[in-house]
Amino acid sequence: ARAWRGLIEEYRDRLPVTDATPVVTLLEGGTPLLPAGRLSQLTGCEVFLKVEGANPTGSFKDRGMTVAISKAAEDGAKAVICASTGNTSASAAAYAVRAGMTCAVLVPAGKIAMGKLAQALVHGARLLQVDGNFDDCLELAQKLAVDYPVALVNSVNKYRLQGQKTAAFEIVDALGDAPDVHCLPVGNAGNISAYWMGYKEYAAADVASKTPRMLGFQASGAAPFVKGEPVLKPQTIATAIRIGNPASWDLAVAARDESGGAIASVTDRQILAAYRLLAREEGVFVEPASAASVAGLLQASEQGGVTPGTRVVCTVTGNGLKDPDWAISGAPAPTTIKVDAHSAASELGLT
Ligand code: F0G
Repeated sequence: ARAWRGLIEEYRDRLPVTDATPVVTLLEGGTPLLPAGRLSQLTGCEVFLKVEGANPTGSFKDRGMTVAISKAAEDGAKAVICASTGNTSASAAAYAVRAGMTCAVLVPAGKIAMGKLAQALVHGARLLQVDGNFDDCLELAQKLAVDYPVALVNSVNKYRLQGQKTAAFEIVDALGDAPDVHCLPVGNAGNISAYWMGYKEYAAADVASKTPRMLGFQASGAAPFVKGEPVLKPQTIATAIRIGNPASWDLAVAARDESGGAIASVTDRQILAAYRLLAREEGVFVEPASAASVAGLLQASEQGGVTPGTRVVCTVTGNGLKDPDWAISGAPAPTTIKVDAHSAASELGLT
């Protein structure tokens, strides 16, 4: 056994890097593909969770960022910028530190989770809260990158999706073939596009014998793909996917249609139920947006949209510690006791 070297070194021959590319890495990737017993029982499928919260900054964004920042470094960039619902900014801020670059982030004011805000700040990013939503932030970031000396590292940067496709490689490498169905949350729609790219690439190279059906899930208040057009005022408690005008629209539609899949919506209530189920019955703490993949699988299973006996992978995109409010609210307040074994035992119902 040898140590994991980060995804650029692990998948170098399938990524747009050369010997001239300075590799900027936090040793991202190599995340767990975890058998999910309870979800398998509930659906009759063989369900796995791709636990992307195990990446260095706690989300799948690190996969794209290692490639995007390495290529920016190769091009001589001194500064990067991104718009974000929180995870992209956390990742960009950390990788910019590794590269010795400055990082500017534009986030929707009051609409990003506290843990993600903390990450951008602790890594020294210049953080601007924009009086608008994510879609406004992205438009602004794109304008700034055109007019000023700063490289854009949102997923409209083609290197981001190249890095993110490696999650599909890891899944095939672990299972020995592609799964039958792949479920994931959809926001700006980069990730579903990247997975599809990865699965297609492995099938074309005969590493996998097939490609999965891609099932994407949006929050019902922020579901432009379901509506068939942009949503002007997206609303959901899953702030990571509170996006009304996805940048990778055409790529995501192609992933959906070429794979024989679908993009559907789940309510915030379904998202929170899946969030609690993951924590209490699978031992996996994710952020609310991540639970959309699992809420979607449960919904598809109820509607007969997934065949029992098939192999399903759900990507859970981000770590639950980023947004702890949803874990704390709804839980009973902890009891305070004296330093006394008897009171502890009686509170715990052991007596
Ligand atoms: N899950 C999480 C935890 C996310 O942070 C995001 C996107 C998604 C799912 C959706 O992925 O955009 O590729 O369809 N977060 C971006 C951000 C928008 O700024 O961190 P997508």
